[in-house]
Amino acid sequence: MGKDVIIACDFASAEATFSFLDKFAELPRKPFVKIGMELYYAEGPAIVREIKRRGHKIFLDLKLHDIPNTVKKAMTVLSRLDVDIVNLHAAGTTAMMKAALEGLTREDGTRPLLIAVTQLTSTDQEALERDILIEKPIDEVVMHYALTAKNAGLDGVVCSPLEAEKVHSVCGAEFLTVTPGIRFADGAVGDQKRVMTPAAANKIGSDYIVVGRPVTQAEDPVKAYLRCVAEFVD
Ligand code: C5P
Repeated sequence: MGKDVIIACDFASAEATFSFLDKFAELPRKPFVKIGMELYYAEGPAIVREIKRRGHKIFLDLKLHDIPNTVKKAMTVLSRLDVDIVNLHAAGTTAMMKAALEGLTREDGTRPLLIAVTQLTSTDQEALERDILIEKPIDEVVMHYALTAKNAGLDGVVCSPLEAEKVHSVCGAEFLTVTPGIRFADGAVGDQKRVMTPAAANKIGSDYIVVGRPVTQAEDPVKAYLRCVAEFVD
């Protein structure tokens, strides 16, 4: 898969999701979409199958984190949904990540891409030290988790666009960086703290950008999406 823009479908119901996706019906290539916990827990696997049936690629953002055996079995179930990318927390350890890969691999040897969350961007240095007793600088922790994910056989990480360049230098150019926190130069930032434009994310080597509100809340979502693609891919 090449570079692409992934729309974060952060909606609470199938109805809201489809009224949004219907706007893209005329496009020759349906957008890559991200389904997160809110929508998946509201609507279950049926919504994944329906979005797939409509021709979208899917990043199923459920961030698994449990004992290796449980994650392996859950990944086997998810692999049957025929999604394109799934993820987990690298904090689950190498054993959990390897088990996830095993569970995800179908009988014919194919599998969705598997990427890791390193440290959530909502976790800062203070919380790291106070709540999870990690005393190293957060940047070092993120790079260590990325390298651990790579060594376990994963395909990439979700990270801030500001970290993408360093992740590539530590883990190699082939290791995927999927980066949220994207905003247009002239757009609202919302609650995101460290943001980058699609063009800048392209320049620093992001493989996929995840864009939510700049597209979902736009007056003309199709136009906003096409602007993202033009800035990021072209
Ligand atoms: O609306 P916005 O563009 O901020 O949406 C970004 C999407 O990426 C949301 O679904 C959010 O949960 C997700 N995300 C993020 N930052 C992370 C990981 C995921 O914004 N570190």
